[in-house]
Amino acid sequence: MMQKFSRRTDWNLEKTAYAAALERLRAGGGPVFDLTASNPTTCGFHYERAGILRALSRPECLEYAPDPRGLLIARTAVAEYYAEATSAQIAAERIFLTTSTSEAYSYLFRLHCDPGAEILIAQPSYPLFEFLADLDDVRLVPYPLFYDHGWHLDLATLMARITPRTRAVVVVHPNNPTGHFTSQEERRLLESICQEHGLALIVDEVFLDYALDTADAGENAHASFSTGEHPVLTYALSGLSKVAGLPQMKAAWIAAFGPERLLEAVIARLEVIADTFLSINAPVQHAMPYLLATRSEVQQQIVQRVRENLATMDRQLAGAPAVSRLAFQGGWYAVLRVPALMSGDALAIRLMERERVVVHPGHFYGFDGDGWIVLSLLPPTAEFAEGIARLIRSIA
Ligand SMILES: Cc1ncc(COP(=O)(O)O)c(C=O)c1O
Repeated sequence: MMQKFSRRTDWNLEKTAYAAALERLRAGGGPVFDLTASNPTTCGFHYERAGILRALSRPECLEYAPDPRGLLIARTAVAEYYAEATSAQIAAERIFLTTSTSEAYSYLFRLHCDPGAEILIAQPSYPLFEFLADLDDVRLVPYPLFYDHGWHLDLATLMARITPRTRAVVVVHPNNPTGHFTSQEERRLLESICQEHGLALIVDEVFLDYALDTADAGENAHASFSTGEHPVLTYALSGLSKVAGLPQMKAAWIAAFGPERLLEAVIARLEVIADTFLSINAPVQHAMPYLLATRSEVQQQIVQRVRENLATMDRQLAGAPAVSRLAFQGGWYAVLRVPALMSGDALAIRLMERERVVVHPGHFYGFDGDGWIVLSLLPPTAEFAEGIARLIRSIA
């Protein structure tokens, strides 16, 4: 008999031409100008190593004291983070710890969705969603973002795509890779749509602390969804991965908001989901008060790097009218518009082969058509500037 696998894992796992070109580039040795590098632990930032290691080896972690929501000491640290960063007061009982934001999504998909249920998700956005949805048997239904002096949600299309199977709307705030924040007006409209159709609002705020347009943004332009009124079930997701620049620590959370009666049901059900896995480890939970309290040191270095790389790139692009950078409010990524003379993959491969420069074609993030490039703004400044110079030389 032939071995059978689940349909949900029926992915096309053949190596793409892009992946093969990247492998050849790396295998060949020599310098690589990786404009996709977004791992903060390998981009030359200073981490308080001794303090982090001490925080991870507290004697309390030798005791197993499981709590489905996560240890109170860690949830209290998350509540303090919100009080400081967003001024939201959140009871620790409404916070659930997970090992990653991806796991947080998965808990929420399982809480709200039966197989075949639909989740509305912005396009362009973060590519991991496809796999998460497959694993949880939910169907992603894109709602478009459109660009007109900045990014906006196409709420008319979003509404038209709601069906009886729709369970939630996902918002990434600020979005990856478009780098825009959901406006207060958009939030209000989203909430009324969700209220009318009984949908939950899942808000991924992993990049919330990396707003860069603070000088010209209006009041509340970057407000967290943890603040204000919550007429519908609203989940704010974030984690150490971006907040403390520590993706390897595997600690994230869900903070739940909404009408009291609904929240009780949410908390009771989420507790069972979390209790089934008890996935977050004790050392990182005991370290969370320290890792969150000291987050600003790494955050400041990251903001500084992002600002510097953006400024350098803008100076370089001033002499290259064929390439333009789209408006950017926050996060770690930038989007470039380039002449659509070939497919996104062909362009990215050409950049690797001719210039030793690595970029992501826009279609990885669901951009329609060709002529979009997505870049990380975290690479070390000299490597970034050289990479952009080579990109311009090859395209413009
Ligand atoms: C928008 C967004 N959400 C979530 C994540 C993943 O975070 P985690 O490491 O907590 O799963 C990323 C990682 O790049 C991201 O860009």
